Amino acid sequence: MPLQQRPDRNLALELVRVTESAALAASKWVGRGDKNAADGAAVDAMRNLLDTVNMDGIVVIGEGEKDEAPMLFNGERVGNGSKPLTDVAVDPIDGTTLTSLGRNNALSVLAVAERGTMFNPGPCVYMEKIAVSAAAANAIDITVSPTKNLKEIAKATKKSLNDLVVVILERPRHDELIAEVRSCGCRIHLISDGDIAGAIAAASPQVGVDVLMGIGGTPEGVTAAAALKSLGGQILGRLWVKNEAEAKVARDAGYDLSKVLTVNDLCSGEDVFFAATGVTDGELLRGVRYDSYGARSQSLVMRSRSGTVRVIDTQHRVDRIGQYSSVEFR
Ligand code: FBP
Repeated sequence: MPLQQRPDRNLALELVRVTESAALAASKWVGRGDKNAADGAAVDAMRNLLDTVNMDGIVVIGEGEKDEAPMLFNGERVGNGSKPLTDVAVDPIDGTTLTSLGRNNALSVLAVAERGTMFNPGPCVYMEKIAVSAAAANAIDITVSPTKNLKEIAKATKKSLNDLVVVILERPRHDELIAEVRSCGCRIHLISDGDIAGAIAAASPQVGVDVLMGIGGTPEGVTAAAALKSLGGQILGRLWVKNEAEAKVARDAGYDLSKVLTVNDLCSGEDVFFAATGVTDGELLRGVRYDSYGARSQSLVMRSRSGTVRVIDTQHRVDRIGQYSSVEFR
């Protein structure tokens, strides 16, 4: 066996067609005040295109259990059934409310990794998270205070605390966290939704955000980890429950609520593929725009083995696609 082989197929380049399609379908619902319709359109489009991808995939991070999600439910088989065997994380829209209100930072997201390598959150809806770029990957510890973390991140990135920018979901549960971060002198970027984009921004040195902190969705944490496998950053998580009843459900299902989950616990694959397309404009990506040509989209495409990160601008002739595709783009 030669030590170095020819690069094999990059599945992420197939995945991006799927996220583009979902983002285009969602884009016609931007600002129309109907988040379910936006999500439904994105789910339909994603489901439709996913079966063209060369893989035998199982949805690990999906739209929920089969009885509540008609498509892209956890455990559903996707892909055209050929090798490789994969785990799949789908988020047809991260930021359904952002989309329905025409706000920034909604993304359509898809990640694929080797079978059995994605963390299955089961009944655990929420997770505490802290995500940073490669420069600060060894500086964070989710078991110590935000203040201690921020000091270590500042040291590792050679910045002053005043220059650190912290992304936090705007939720009442974060009032104390926000007060503590402010008392450290850091700047805060409050987001109303969309912490996959927040984690990717924190892991991307060129975006101008240093760290994502706070409690968000566990599925979104796993999906963000898949992206960070390529970017080289770190995301640490710890499952979070609202009350003792939720804690019992999680423990009975075999989950350890005190365990610190690293990027590799959340996604242990060695060949992880990630694609995201902007639905609305954001720090990471432009949203879908329409002009005389048709539609334009912008996507991020990554593969962990090579660490290649691509930004893909695509022009779509929606009139032509409409002649043969069952996905409705207008
Ligand atoms: P949806 O697009 O599925 O509504 O999720 C948006 C989101 O903001 C995620 O990015 C985040 O992880 C989660 O919701 C936070 O949950 P909650 O809104 O319950 O605080």
